[in-house]
Amino acid sequence: MIERIRELEAISRRLEPGKEERASVSDAVVGFGEGFLDRLPELKAYEIEKEAAKKLRDSPIADEGVGVGELLELFDDAVIAPGVNPASERFLAYIPGGGIYYSSLGDFLAAVTNRYAGVRFAGPGAVEMENMLLDWMADLVGYPKGSGGNLASGGSIANLTAIVTARDAHGLKPRDYERAVVYLSGQVHHCIQKALGVVGLGECVQRYVPMDGRYRMAPAELERAIAKDRADGLIPWLVIASAGTTDVGAIDPLEEIGQIAKAEGLWYHIDAAYGGFFALVDECRPKLAGMELSDSIVLDPHKGLFLPYGTGALLVKDVRALRRSHHYEAAYMQDILAEESLEAASPAELSPELTKHFRGLRLWLPLKLHGLEPFRACLEEKLLLARYFHQEVQKLGFEAGQEPELSVATYRWVPEVGDANEFNQALVDEIHRDGRVFVSSTMLDGKFVLRLAALTFRTHLETIDLLLAILKEKVDELTARR
Ligand SMILES: Cc1ncc(COP(=O)(O)O)c(C=O)c1O
Repeated sequence: MIERIRELEAISRRLEPGKEERASVSDAVVGFGEGFLDRLPELKAYEIEKEAAKKLRDSPIADEGVGVGELLELFDDAVIAPGVNPASERFLAYIPGGGIYYSSLGDFLAAVTNRYAGVRFAGPGAVEMENMLLDWMADLVGYPKGSGGNLASGGSIANLTAIVTARDAHGLKPRDYERAVVYLSGQVHHCIQKALGVVGLGECVQRYVPMDGRYRMAPAELERAIAKDRADGLIPWLVIASAGTTDVGAIDPLEEIGQIAKAEGLWYHIDAAYGGFFALVDECRPKLAGMELSDSIVLDPHKGLFLPYGTGALLVKDVRALRRSHHYEAAYMQDILAEESLEAASPAELSPELTKHFRGLRLWLPLKLHGLEPFRACLEEKLLLARYFHQEVQKLGFEAGQEPELSVATYRWVPEVGDANEFNQALVDEIHRDGRVFVSSTMLDGKFVLRLAALTFRTHLETIDLLLAILKEKVDELTARR
């Protein structure tokens, strides 16, 4: 047996490469990253040809390892080349993500040191770091002491965790689900409907409250709907407002909705995954007033703080509610649980996860290294870029949607002849085929519109000017072809 153990040890020790091997592999990987950043200004924002991804199948997982050079070549061909390039300054679609460099170093530190961020007993510093970051966000939102939260993998999971908390805080039982009413607007992000389904609340009544002309939930309609539902014997339970909708960047009247929720005894949740961090910009604070009235709120650092994908944040005003929904007991964790307290709860007590990525480090390191100033400036710049685009695109003859509330602008070309929806679909297709910039589209009141979403930290004035030039070029080409 000892012989076999030694034999196995010799092989398993390959998992701990020596200093020289580590240096050579990490030099190659870091070198690739550096090369990628050098090439980034020339790389397309979108490569429509996606066949290259299949090359990964030609290199199956096997007993023998492969050299890092070969792997980086494959990664470049199969992963970096095809599809959308969200690291590009010219990625202007959906809600752009970020990719600030120091976050990658935070991830490196988290992985190489492998601290356990799930429970305070094991990783007091890791948990403290995450809780400190959440407290900072709670302060930004205007929550009092006694709040708590969780760094999740993204906005969808953070919203889902909020819905579970709201369900339990109201003591809803399966027998109530068919009568329980959640109030939303037609602009709500689809992760909310998905979350309701996932947590077993798919049968509850989803009441879509009419919106005003700027795609904001109309508070008077909300009040009316609640009164009618009560009269009909239903159970008004949850209202979900958006602080920055994905489609148009609309901010619901957060204060008025909050007052109604309070008066009616509803749980008030705000999805501020996109818009929340704009609270760092003085000019935006009045627009976001009312966030502090919510019972729970989601903000996405991988949107508004430009982090690479993988971090959303949930805050709950009364941490006890969050803990009630996620508290656990397990004999094998008795030492760990003995150290838990409400004032200093661990992520495992406040979320569905136990073992988790130490997400705090990818947020803490860049915030501490840069300080807040460049984040604030970058957000304000994006607001102004969207406004600039909105103004300039109209000068080109486009029909523009409402003045951007945040950093999303919608627009479309209305051709002299032919169907406008078809024309704008063709326009988006042309832009995608070209690939220099990547924009997306949506449907608003039956109209096919294009969107500009400025949130990539690398997007600056030249990027917007390039988009304007490409739009003009493509409209001219399409018009000439018709
Ligand atoms: C307003 C809003 N809420 C929630 C989400 C979902 O977040 P995630 O993609 O991080 O899961 C998005 C994504 O774009 C969003 O824009």
